[in-house]
Amino acid sequence: MNSRISERIRYVGVNDLKKSLFEGMWPLPFGVSYNSYLVIDDKVALIDTAEAGYAAEYMENIRRELGERKVDYLVVNHMEPDHSSLMSMIREAYPEARIVGNAKTVPMIKGYYGICENLHIVKEGDSISLGNSTLTFHMTPMVHWPETMMTYFHEEKTLFSGDAFGTFGALADGITDAGARLYGCSDAAADTFEAFNGEMLRYYSNIVGKYGQTVQAAMKKLAGLEISRICSTHGPVWEKNIAEVVSCYDRLSRYEGEKGVCIVYASMYGNTEKAAMSLAAELEKRGVRYAVHNLCTENVSYAYRDAFRYDTLAVGAPTYNNDIFPPAFSFMYGVSARLMKNRAFAAFGSFTWAGASVKLLNEMASKLGFDLISEGLSFPQAFTPEKCDMAALADTIASQVTE
Ligand SMILES: Cc1cc2nc3c(=O)[nH]c(=O)nc-3n(C[C@H](O)[C@H](O)[C@H](O)COP(=O)(O)O)c2cc1C
Ligand SMILES: [Fe+2]
Ligand SMILES: [Fe+2]
Repeated sequence: MNSRISERIRYVGVNDLKKSLFEGMWPLPFGVSYNSYLVIDDKVALIDTAEAGYAAEYMENIRRELGERKVDYLVVNHMEPDHSSLMSMIREAYPEARIVGNAKTVPMIKGYYGICENLHIVKEGDSISLGNSTLTFHMTPMVHWPETMMTYFHEEKTLFSGDAFGTFGALADGITDAGARLYGCSDAAADTFEAFNGEMLRYYSNIVGKYGQTVQAAMKKLAGLEISRICSTHGPVWEKNIAEVVSCYDRLSRYEGEKGVCIVYASMYGNTEKAAMSLAAELEKRGVRYAVHNLCTENVSYAYRDAFRYDTLAVGAPTYNNDIFPPAFSFMYGVSARLMKNRAFAAFGSFTWAGASVKLLNEMASKLGFDLISEGLSFPQAFTPEKCDMAALADTIASQVTE
């Protein structure tokens, strides 16, 4: 893979195709990349590092670009270990290199790696010069950790954005959106942004989702910068698709869904499942877009993705010990934890002797300020259209969607 992004910027990141669950939770069907960059001028800056398991490959990438030259600065935009865990190795290989972080980074560097020496602490608007290249630091706290900051390379209008604008999915056939493909995905014709879009939504909703407000604050702060390249820590370098990527983040962080329905259900014996499938079929007849996720067979990651994607959320769960069947409770807990807003909502579910799940799901949705478009479809034992009128719910949804 060509590592040259420009004369002065080189890609030294790695693809991770071995890990099955990111952060121990989120599936990686196409892998993930840990992006790291060198800015090479009179002095050399390394922006973030990579995951511990890739030490040898990462070091080789750096040496291939630098030869005998040394790193002068290691800029730490984010301390999550997927980007910081090779910091000690860099300190050993280049003991003179100053580690650049902000006041919130310093105790984390000490706590994780025991490093206290040769640190350069920056605050909003501070710069370092590498010769003819200026790096300016912008504090963007809680995108998605307290120490997160971004680094702007003034002369090349390049933003090193940390996790922001990142996506799951390893890189194939290139690094920039001029040609990078989603690893393991054969559709060579797909535009890079389109190819990575689902994985970008999943990355945002799974990991950053809670921080809509601070993402908005960061975007307002960055609005004054002229940006012609975004180098994030995961996925492609954005050059062609900057407008699309920024508008996608803007929409997600305002919790603005596209027209459509995310149907999420959990079911032990198939009765709630039949209701979910009936709703899907009724939406299909009315030409309403939808996605269906079974929480008992699928990782919840995909349900969060589509809950962020669509403006309507329909959740199905049977009653279990006078409560919400746990996989659906856990999903709704995750929706609450992400401070989700602006959703139309409907609950459904089977029970046998005393239904409770639909009422409790409605309560969770009400607390989030969702618009309850149905009183909820709670039905005893087997699903029948008479007991659980999904056609009527689909009519309500279709009338809202086509408004
Ligand atoms: C462990 C367990 C606990 C249950 N607790 C309740 C309950 O508290 N109230 C109730 O009405 N039904 C309860 N049920 C019955 C289920 O809600 C019922 O079987 C329902 O039809 C299952 O829907 P499903 O086919 O979508 O899994 C329970 C079932 C199981 C297996
Ligand atoms: Fe992170
Ligand atoms: Fe990350």
